[in-house]
Amino acid sequence: MASRAKNLVLFSLSCFLPWLCTTTYSQTATIGQGQQLKHYQQLVSNSGMFKLGFKSVHHNNSYLGIWYYGDDDNLLWVANRDTPISGTSGILEIDDHGNLIIVNEPADPFVLYSVEEPSNTNATLEDSGNFVLHELSSDGSIKQVLWQSFDHPTDTLLPGMKLGINSKTGLNWSLTSWRSDMSPASGSFTLGLDPRDTSQLVIWWRGETYWKSGSFLQGSSLVALVNGSYNFGFISNENETYFNYTVKKAVTIFPRLKLNPEGELVSSRADSVALEVSCTKNLSVGCLKQNIPACRSLGNKVFQHHTGFMSNTGFKFSQSDNLSRIDCQAECLHDCSCVAYASKNDDGTGCEIWSTGISFTESITRDDRSDVRRDIFILEPRENKWWIWLIIVLGGLMVVPPLCSICYVIWKWSKRRGDGKMNQRMLLNEIGGGAMPSTSNENGLSRKKDGHDNQLDVFSFESIAASTNYFSVGNKLGEGGFGPVYKGKLLDGREIAVKRLSSHSGQGLLEFKNEAILIAKLQHTNLVRLLGFCIQGEEKILIYEYMPNKSLDFFIFDSDRKYRLNWKKRFNIIEGITQGLLYLHKYSRLKVIHRDLKAGNILLDDEMNPKISDFGMARIFGLNESEANTKRVVGTYGYMSPEYAFRGIVSIKTDVFSFGVLLLEIVSGKKNNCCYHSDRPLNLIGYAWQLWNEGRGLVLIDPILDESCNRNEALRCIHVGLLCVQDRAIDRPTMPDVVSMLSNETVQLPAPKQPAFFIYAAEEEPDIADVKSNKCSINYVSVSVMEAR
Ligand SMILES: *[C@@H]1O[C@H](CO)[C@@H](O)[C@H](O)[C@H]1NC(C)=O
Ligand SMILES: *[C@@H]1O[C@H](CO)[C@@H](O)[C@H](O)[C@H]1NC(C)=O
Ligand SMILES: *[C@@H]1O[C@H](CO)[C@@H](O)[C@H](O)[C@H]1NC(C)=O
Ligand SMILES: *[C@@H]1O[C@H](CO)[C@@H](O)[C@H](O)[C@H]1NC(C)=O
Ligand SMILES: *[C@@H]1O[C@H](CO)[C@@H](O)[C@H](O)[C@H]1NC(C)=O
Ligand SMILES: *[C@@H]1O[C@H](CO)[C@@H](O)[C@H](O)[C@H]1NC(C)=O
Ligand SMILES: *[C@@H]1O[C@H](CO)[C@@H](O)[C@H](O)[C@H]1NC(C)=O
Ligand SMILES: *[C@@H]1O[C@H](CO)[C@@H](O)[C@H](O)[C@H]1NC(C)=O
Repeated sequence: MASRAKNLVLFSLSCFLPWLCTTTYSQTATIGQGQQLKHYQQLVSNSGMFKLGFKSVHHNNSYLGIWYYGDDDNLLWVANRDTPISGTSGILEIDDHGNLIIVNEPADPFVLYSVEEPSNTNATLEDSGNFVLHELSSDGSIKQVLWQSFDHPTDTLLPGMKLGINSKTGLNWSLTSWRSDMSPASGSFTLGLDPRDTSQLVIWWRGETYWKSGSFLQGSSLVALVNGSYNFGFISNENETYFNYTVKKAVTIFPRLKLNPEGELVSSRADSVALEVSCTKNLSVGCLKQNIPACRSLGNKVFQHHTGFMSNTGFKFSQSDNLSRIDCQAECLHDCSCVAYASKNDDGTGCEIWSTGISFTESITRDDRSDVRRDIFILEPRENKWWIWLIIVLGGLMVVPPLCSICYVIWKWSKRRGDGKMNQRMLLNEIGGGAMPSTSNENGLSRKKDGHDNQLDVFSFESIAASTNYFSVGNKLGEGGFGPVYKGKLLDGREIAVKRLSSHSGQGLLEFKNEAILIAKLQHTNLVRLLGFCIQGEEKILIYEYMPNKSLDFFIFDSDRKYRLNWKKRFNIIEGITQGLLYLHKYSRLKVIHRDLKAGNILLDDEMNPKISDFGMARIFGLNESEANTKRVVGTYGYMSPEYAFRGIVSIKTDVFSFGVLLLEIVSGKKNNCCYHSDRPLNLIGYAWQLWNEGRGLVLIDPILDESCNRNEALRCIHVGLLCVQDRAIDRPTMPDVVSMLSNETVQLPAPKQPAFFIYAAEEEPDIADVKSNKCSINYVSVSVMEAR
């Protein structure tokens, strides 16, 4: 017990050191000379649109990259694609001479730019997504650009980047695909300007021309493919010849043009593929014919994708051949005895091919096999579709039409969202209880109706990112125990509060979704309403109604704003909280224990009616034992009952304790975590108890409350408050008791015993002696998670 107390105090202490508290949230776009960016740190462009940092892509291989804030899975630029850094040893640094390097001990550093002579330099991640190394003059102003990431594209072209050649500097701007989705190493396809006819783009496959756009001067095939969403530019002057583009605003949120490992040029829109050049899937405009050897007569055969095992090892190509999957397919096609191929390595690179005489086992995991099943492509007759059509026709005749229309919508959806997102969509789709999802509306959300007529919206990540200005610092409302909260504005003008859950919730997609739906069913005037949610990759986001009047702590503890809460309003707030909590504990089907009830979690609407927020978070974070020991204590110092803070025991009485503290705070207008006695370090509970015993309870009432204050009501609140903060959980009333105690003046209240208040006994804990003198500046700090409200 003593050691737990020590931890609590140490944690609070760490927040005395302001830089420890602030570094977590500070964002910078620039690193200066002699500064380092460690593997766990990131640069964020000023607008909050882009991030730069280290990412590990496969196993231990980590890369310095740039990505859109909120779209963490898609690296737009990779600095060291062919020189991965192992594990977490990478550090980006501008050394004392001004060189931009990636330190990778004990290996040699990876040099991004090396200056000719020592100079003063700065590197900034700009709002365009360009990472620029500037040389600074002695007064600190920018002298010239030494190096920029836009001059060294990887596989992605962002608006503002150029694709072409600069004859003055000799720079060639071209895209080279990744080798596979899991390996950023230089792949087999390159996109650039055709040196023989510089008015067109070309995709090369290992040096051979694979696709041509056609001249931009005479209506290229690319232009025909795009139609509307993009503006393509083609500029040629004495110094440079290049292609560039811009995206019409609101068409796409994370714009990019990417050459993928299969040699396809793709660009995704908010919810669909806007542009695709694919000579792999089919021969779109501009594709050149691939020659197939004469011995190979494919007939009706194509490579079909299977997962499983081969009976024996095939021919493995050497590592230095640097093969991607499409290369492997070509190798197989050119060997007329080849019937199957697969990637050799688990990151999708390398090549292994098989000739006739092998057998394939479908993906049943066999006990005697230690290897994981593989993606294998086998040459087989094209799937004969006639029987499928027969089933469809028969099915169409027999099955009721609604089923078909559901299938159709799902099919259309999955087609639009791509395979990865399909599962998510299907999942989300289920929750409507079979209800048909409508197509996305202008906010990029689809609307679900559950059986109880309360609507829960499923928002797309892009729409949420756009509504919060890409989670910009300016839109941040606060930082709760479970993640930051942003203010957002949807396209239809609705204001929302967006809670971006921190990633360590340990919850799967399905569980999160189920919890969100359960929480959406908790509806009460004194609970903040959940409007919807968003799941995308690691991102889990809850969308709430927006409360214009912030939270209770914003008013009650502020020397000016507290005047706006007279006794009538305060009592109304107390009643509202009581009702909300009663509903959570008793009447809701879920029996929710809040665990982090505090003034900062009581939001106020425009008429100062209270609404409890953050309820159900404990469930979302998988802490849903009703009375049990929890490993992770989540709560706020000062509001936590002793059995919860010291032993992790949770029950509805945990909330009753916090409610008691809240009651005393509302009546007195003082924070619990402060000292209210000149000789002894007494917190508000201790102070209230002392005054109560001396029969001077009225002294506790906030002095600004004028004559209108109903002294009896206020005294009753203090009395109930003291009962709620009793040391032993069993001595505290339940919420139904509290309701009758507060509303019924004739109910005789039991006399409170000594409540649980922490006087830090200096003899027990030497460390704590230091804390005492500073106790008034202890801020509200959530244990295990910081609280910045
Ligand atoms: C250079 O970087 C330092 C440190 O980040 C910063 O204080 C300074 O403003 C930067 N100078 C310019 C011109 O960006
Ligand atoms: C990852 O790298 C670290 C340090 O470089 C090494 O100790 C560890 O064994 C590596 N792990 C794997 C799975 O390769
Ligand atoms: C750029 O491309 C031109 C024409 O294709 C070629 O002659 C030149 O060597 C290339 N320069 C670099 C630096 O790759
Ligand atoms: C572009 O789209 C419009 C309608 O959206 C269509 O009428 C037009 O034919 C399209 N143009 C091309 C070149 O595909
Ligand atoms: C070409 O480069 C020269 C010298 O670098 C510069 O003076 C000139 O303005 C450039 N021309 C254009 C059209 O950018
Ligand atoms: C291409 O770049 C030029 C020069 O920076 C710029 O003026 C033009 O607007 C760009 N075009 C497009 C379509 O982005
Ligand atoms: C090629 O494939 C793309 C995507 O799969 C499709 O949109 C397009 O219509 C196809 N084109 C042809 C000519 O089959
Ligand atoms: C790729 O090929 C080059 C030579 O063509 C070789 O130096 C390099 O080691 C190869 N890379 C890998 C990962 O095999």
